[in-house]
Amino acid sequence: MKATVTYTCSSCGARSSQMLGRCPVCGEWGTMVEEVLQSAAPAKGVRSRSGSQVQKLQDVSVQDDQRIDMHSAELNRVLGGGLVPGSLVLLGGEPGIGKSTLALQVLMQLGKTTTLYASGEESVKQIKLRSERIAGTPENLYIVAETSLEKILEHAKTLKPDIVVVDSIQTIGTEAIEATIGSLSQVRECAARILQFAKETNTPFIIVGHITKDGALAGPKVLEHIVDTVLQFEGDQHYMYRVLRAQKNRFGSTSEIGIYEMQHDGLREVTNPSELLLSSNRDGLSGISIAVAVEGVRPLLIEVQALTSSAAYGTPQRSSTGFDSRRLNMLLAVLEKRIGFKLLTKDVFLNIAGGLRVNDTAIDLAVLVAVLSSSMDIALPTDCCMTGEVGLAGEIRPVNRIDQRIGEARKLGFSRIIIPAGQKHQPVKGIQVIEVARVTDAVRLLFKQS
Ligand code: TYD
Ligand code: MG
Repeated sequence: MKATVTYTCSSCGARSSQMLGRCPVCGEWGTMVEEVLQSAAPAKGVRSRSGSQVQKLQDVSVQDDQRIDMHSAELNRVLGGGLVPGSLVLLGGEPGIGKSTLALQVLMQLGKTTTLYASGEESVKQIKLRSERIAGTPENLYIVAETSLEKILEHAKTLKPDIVVVDSIQTIGTEAIEATIGSLSQVRECAARILQFAKETNTPFIIVGHITKDGALAGPKVLEHIVDTVLQFEGDQHYMYRVLRAQKNRFGSTSEIGIYEMQHDGLREVTNPSELLLSSNRDGLSGISIAVAVEGVRPLLIEVQALTSSAAYGTPQRSSTGFDSRRLNMLLAVLEKRIGFKLLTKDVFLNIAGGLRVNDTAIDLAVLVAVLSSSMDIALPTDCCMTGEVGLAGEIRPVNRIDQRIGEARKLGFSRIIIPAGQKHQPVKGIQVIEVARVTDAVRLLFKQS
């Protein structure tokens, strides 16, 4: 067997024959790691799967009811309507965020379905202890503490479970290659072997993978190419909310999210997030505004909190939690240039309440208004929420799903909602819809008491 050494970038997967300090493809420093390739085996991926056949596209039948119901509305939705047999799902997230809890809980709620939970991280006793905290009456949930991939697949072969969870891909290894467990080669090889097994036996696998603080899958970006679906479990560890997001899905849309709350007895699905995200007592507090965001396809009311204060030292701080900080800087520039509000010597802190991370730019207006409210120390009217993207010229730009946004605001008892001017919407009763074209108009409207 001939072994060749190559160097692979752990961030983007690019290969090089030399050890380099910086990856020539993605430009990251210090990410090249040594990998030993063994070339005795036939090239992977070209092995025929027991005689392929050519057939007409229209003759191929796929029934959607083949999907496995996960007994969880949130998870089913994020997966695109249930788990597809034979598919490979990667469940990624920072350490401690709740991946193992989610995976175990999902299996525990499947009742009679035969499932296998293979853990390379915890002992059988630890898994049992965890399961005692979580509700569910699994009848056919099998667990095994094992780090050898071969053994896990052997167990799966004899047990023939309907779903297998491998927790986590970084803690298991295959005997086929010599690399250490957790290394790039091991992770990649294990994933490839699991994929092959999954497709051959039509068994779906959920593999747990750790990601680092900056959001990259530890080790392999390459994993993302191998698997069918990438689910990201995220949230702030200091808060109880967790969001499950599909980053890639061969069998469904990537715009869906599931929202969970971490409790002492496992994760609870949150079906009506807006009610929980709004604090009931906001009266008279400056620096707080309510935005109507859409995450996935669901409208969400979000509390935006801002605090500005005089900078203690030379350079003012700009800090943002749950919102893109570059976008915050852009909005502060708009505030300065278009409204003439100077924040140069001020620290600005921004926080999305509940520890959520919001990608929807429709919360721009609420962010801007919250900053303004804090620096003038004037509270905003509590009966009014808003939605609108802010452009560089200080114009308020249209947003998607406007009817759903208005509907959600009305449902939660707001009497007024600010939306971008000229945006078509269905007539609604019970809430006043105010169209504004420019940031200055919104500011005049909201701060008119001053
Ligand atoms: P865990 O699933 O071990 O995280 P991961 O697998 O992503 O590393 O969950 C870690 C945290 O969740 C841990 O700090 C304890 C907490 N937790 C609860 O709050 N309630 C529960 O019912 C369980 C099982 C865990
Ligand atoms: Mg874990």
